[in-house]
Amino acid sequence: MERRQKKVSRIAVLTSGGDAPGMNACVRAVVRTAINEGLSIFGIQGGYEGLVEGDIIPMSMRSVSNIIQRGGTILKTSRCETFYHKVGRKRAYDVLREWNIDGLIVIGGDGSFRGAHALCEEYRINIIGVPATIDNDIYGTDLTIGYDTAVNTALDLIDKIRDTAESHSRLFIVEVMGREAGFIALAVGICGGAEEILVPERRMSYEQLYEAIKVWSKAGKTSSLIVVAEGDELGNANQIAARLKKDYNIDCRVCILGHTQRGGSPTATDRLLASRLGYHAVLGLIEGKSDVMVGWVNNQIVFTPLEETWEKKKPLDEELLQIYKTLSR
Ligand code: F6P
Repeated sequence: MERRQKKVSRIAVLTSGGDAPGMNACVRAVVRTAINEGLSIFGIQGGYEGLVEGDIIPMSMRSVSNIIQRGGTILKTSRCETFYHKVGRKRAYDVLREWNIDGLIVIGGDGSFRGAHALCEEYRINIIGVPATIDNDIYGTDLTIGYDTAVNTALDLIDKIRDTAESHSRLFIVEVMGREAGFIALAVGICGGAEEILVPERRMSYEQLYEAIKVWSKAGKTSSLIVVAEGDELGNANQIAARLKKDYNIDCRVCILGHTQRGGSPTATDRLLASRLGYHAVLGLIEGKSDVMVGWVNNQIVFTPLEETWEKKKPLDEELLQIYKTLSR
C-alpha cells in the first residue's frame, strides 16, 4: 500500500564544500532510503562542479556498499566558483532537467546551502540540505556531520602533545580548525584539559593571556596547553607564540592540527547522525519539503529554512565555557 503521495520521483545527491567524516554514511542513507521508497537515485560527482558539468551516475544499493566506515566522500567534493553566478546555476538547472531530476539533496556546509537556496529561488527544483562540516557552525542543528569525529581526532593528537609537554615542562599552543567558530576548540580544550581556550566568540587580550599564564605557572602546573581556534582574533598559533616570546619572553611550541581533523573513519555518533539525517532528507523531499535543511535539535528531527542556517548564529554553549574556566585551574 502507498504510504504517502510522493512529490518527487527522480532525485540526486551531492557532497559539497570541505569534506567531513560521515558524508559517505549520509550518501549511503540517502541512496538506500530513496531506493526503498521506490525513487530513482543519482549521484552527482564533484559537488556543484559536477552538477554544472553533468557528471552524474545512477546509484544502486551496491554502489554504497562498504562505505559507512570510510572518511572523505566517494562522490568527491569541490568549492565551485561557477555556481556562485547565475549563469552557473542556469547550467545546473538545465542539467537537472536533461536528467528529469526533480529533487536534490545537498550534503555540505553553509556555503553549499547558499548555492542551494539560490537555485531554489530561481528555478522550480526541490532541495533539502544536510549539514556536514567539521566546524559545527550551522544554525538549525545541534550537531553537524563530521564534528564529532574531528573533535575525537584532535583530542587524540592533543593527548599525545600533552605527553611531550609534560616531559619537558613546556607550554604548547595547539591550533584547531573551525573557521570563524570555536566549537571544535571548546570541546577539544575541555576534553584535553587545556589551561586556556581561545575562541572567536570570546575576546581575550594578550595582557589577559599573559596574566592567565602567570596564574597557572604559580599554581604549580608542569605542562600547559593553549588550544586556539583558527579564527581567533588574537591571531593564529604561530603569531601568538611569536608575540608571547617578544612581549613576555615566554617560550612555547606550536602544533597546527590542520587537515588531519577532516579525515579518518567517522565515529559512531557521526554515522548515526548521518544515517538519520540522510533518511529524513529523502522522506522530506517525498513529502514536498524544499529550501530547508534537515537538522537534529534536542533529540528531534527539525527542518529549518536554508536562509536561517547562515543568517542566524549558533551560539557556543555558555555553560561549557564556564565549566572549562572552573576545571582548568
Ligand atoms: O569548513 C571546514 C574547514 O575545514 C574549516 O575548518 C577550514 O577553515 C576550511 O574548511 C579549510 O578549507 P580548505 O580545505 O579549502 O583549505
